[in-house]
Amino acid sequence: MKKSCVPFSPLAVALVVGLGVTATGGLARARPLTVEDGLHPIGPPLTALHTKVTNADWIVAWLLKPNRLRLNQHMSKLRITAAEARAVAAHLYSGPPPTAPAVPWKGGDARKGEQLFVARGCRGCHTIGATVPPEWTRAPDLAGIGIKLRGDWLFNWIKSPRTYNPDTAMPQVTLNDDEIRNLVAFLLSHREGAAVVAKVVKRITGTTT
Ligand code: HEC
Repeated sequence: MKKSCVPFSPLAVALVVGLGVTATGGLARARPLTVEDGLHPIGPPLTALHTKVTNADWIVAWLLKPNRLRLNQHMSKLRITAAEARAVAAHLYSGPPPTAPAVPWKGGDARKGEQLFVARGCRGCHTIGATVPPEWTRAPDLAGIGIKLRGDWLFNWIKSPRTYNPDTAMPQVTLNDDEIRNLVAFLLSHREGAAVVAKVVKRITGTTT
């Protein structure tokens, strides 16, 4: 397969190459993906998503409506059916229950977190609610992060991004646990897109979550 220069999410590649989604929405056996598969090193790893993402419904909505959940994202629009999206989401979200984080992550002060977000340089790479992709960074916009990420994962991520993704471009910022808790509280308060997820789920299943 020809290497792609187009910003292409590994998930899109996984759909085509690795997971082998069948016409009926079933999944063929996955194999590890390599650069030879055409992976562009932009998308984050999709490792243990059940420890990162709040629920599989968010993944389904992301697969079907990426541009509604994040206005300035780089993910290619996928041509998949709702049944395929649900099968892929179920596959990505499977795994043993995550273990409790070593450090409590709740109880932060969102206002102090907002100040830290500016003072500690997060805003140098991340926007929150921007509508056009920034030219200077591949860092994701963080609007709606509160409906996407689990708080414990977020705490661990800010504390040590490379533990989850050794190749990440996100720097390790020196912060104490209280400061990280404040950032977590601030980021989790951004719940934009909840209505999009609810609408997608309702359309697919006829029920609300
Ligand atoms: C040098 C640029 C840079 C800086 C500074 C930076 N980040 Fe990031 N961040 C990234 C990139 C790039 C990613 C995408 C993940 C990857 O590539 O592994 C990311 C990912 C994230 C994510 C996960 C988003 C998602 O949807 O999965 C969060 C949350 C986050 N950063 C928060 C922060 C916070 C809080 C700070 C400040 C303490 C910060 N970042 C500073 C570049 C940066």
